[in-house]
Order: sequence, then structure tokens, then C-alpha cells
Amino acid sequence: MSSVTMAEHAGFCYGVKRAVEMAEQAASSGKRCVMLGSLIHNDSVVRRLESMGLTSVSKPEDVPEGATVIIRSHGEPKAVHEALSARGEILDATCPNVSRIHKIVAEAEQAGRQPVIIGTPNHPEITAIAGWCTHPVVLADAEELEKWLDKDSENRKKPLTLVSQTTAARKSWDLCVEKAKKECTNLKVFDTICSATCKRQEAAQALAAKSDAMIVIGDRKSSNTRRLAELCAALCPQVLWIERAEDLEPSNLYGKASIGITAGASTPGWIIKEVYNKMSDEIMEIEESFAELLEKSI
Ligand code: F3S
Repeated sequence: MSSVTMAEHAGFCYGVKRAVEMAEQAASSGKRCVMLGSLIHNDSVVRRLESMGLTSVSKPEDVPEGATVIIRSHGEPKAVHEALSARGEILDATCPNVSRIHKIVAEAEQAGRQPVIIGTPNHPEITAIAGWCTHPVVLADAEELEKWLDKDSENRKKPLTLVSQTTAARKSWDLCVEKAKKECTNLKVFDTICSATCKRQEAAQALAAKSDAMIVIGDRKSSNTRRLAELCAALCPQVLWIERAEDLEPSNLYGKASIGITAGASTPGWIIKEVYNKMSDEIMEIEESFAELLEKSI
């Protein structure tokens, strides 16, 4: 008999929940409200908010005059905030943990320090953080940090302020900190990995280590979901990354005694529930039909 277990921490984090609630309130306020970019990295949630009356725009110039604009949980660069406030009211759904990083890098630069941001280049959160300083250095990992330090001998002597993407993998960030501490003479480190991310990763890893297969639920654009899938793949022989219950082919899990489920920070509870129900029902069906087949063949 297969067992299906949910990871202890999975799905919506505090920042995503807050952003979605702010958007839902805006939708029911009767005011004209638009979302700039994807509020969170989950198309199903964004489509649901659109069905409640919110519209999506991709550029600040597309925000209609007088409309209230909702800034997504990943945040936006300072220039975007300025452009938007000139057009109308802003509803800032940036996760407070991300806003804190904006403040750290802006203050570091004002104090004559070089902000070094460790994260995925072009990810919206990183683009937004970089947009709160004028000369940011964005590096993906310890390897890139090493290359940057080697590029100019002065880099090691500069006053550096190191911050991380909130959803970075702990191990990768620790390597960056270790390298920077060893090689740089004037360093300030701000551990800006979100505790919700750490808890979700640790719970997923603990479950993956004792499961025959793991299902990771989350949007393909979600980098924290991608990290969950990578971390699980290092510990579990089979990892299926799906966005919705309909993506799941239960026969792929046939014969697995223990199946774990985890979900990225932008995956809503109703999608997790759909997957869990589908798993529980269909696995049971598969097992029953297999038992029948066995009986017939004996
Ligand atoms: Fe915020 Fe952490 Fe979620 S930074 S958006 S609470 S993963």
C-alpha cells in the first residue's frame, strides 16, 4: 500500500499570502485596480484575480491614469515606484522581507559601499533589488563571485555589502559567504534568505530523503519551486515537478511505496489539495486494479 505524505511546510508563504489578500481586497473595493507584472509566480492565481476584476499590465506606461496599481510580491525597482506614483495610487504588495533588502542595498551604496547581490540574474526579485542602487553587482553563485573578485584586484579591498535573493539555496549562499569572508578585507554580510524558504526546503529535503518519489507543485516560472525540485532530486530517486493536478500521471508513480508532496511558496492551497486528492484516489484505484489483476493471474 502506498503512503502519500505532505511536507510539513509547503505552499503559500506569508509574503505571497499577504500579496494575494491585498489584491483580493483591491478587487472587491470597486476601484479601478491593475496588477503590474505577475502578482506572484502562479498563473492560476493571477487568472483567478483577473476573473475577480483586476487587470494585468506589463509596463508602468500601460497603467491607466487614475488607476490604483498593485506592486507584486517580488517588488519593483525604485524608478518604477517613482513612475507609478506620478500616475496614481500605489498598493505596495512587495513582501516586507524583500523591501528590507531594498533598504539595505540603498543604504549601503549611500554609505559608499558596493552592494553585491547573490541571486538569479533577471529574476524579478533580483531586478527589483538591483534597482534600488545605481551600481549593483549581481552574481549567481560562489563561482561567479570568485570570477568577479579575480577580475580586478581592487574588488577584494572594496567595502562590500553582501545580500542574497530571499529564496536562495542555503548551501550556495553559505559558500559565497565563506569565500567573501576569506578573501575580502571590508565586508558586511546580511543573511537575507527568508526563514519561510529555509523551513520549506528543510521539510522537503527531510521528506525526500525517506520517500520513493516526490511530487513538487509549482509554476514553471517559480525559482523557489525549481530549487525545491533540485534539492529533492539530490535525495530522492524520482521527482515529478507539476503545476496542477491535471499534469499528474499517477501511473508514473506505480509501485512507489512512499510518495511525498511539497509545493513552492506561490502555490495556493487549493491546487495542493487537488493534487493530494488525485494522488490518494488514483493511487488507491491503481493499487486496487493491480490487486485484482494479481488475483486473476494466480
Ligand atoms: Fe517573502 Fe519569504 Fe515569501 S521573502 S514572498 S515570505 S518566501
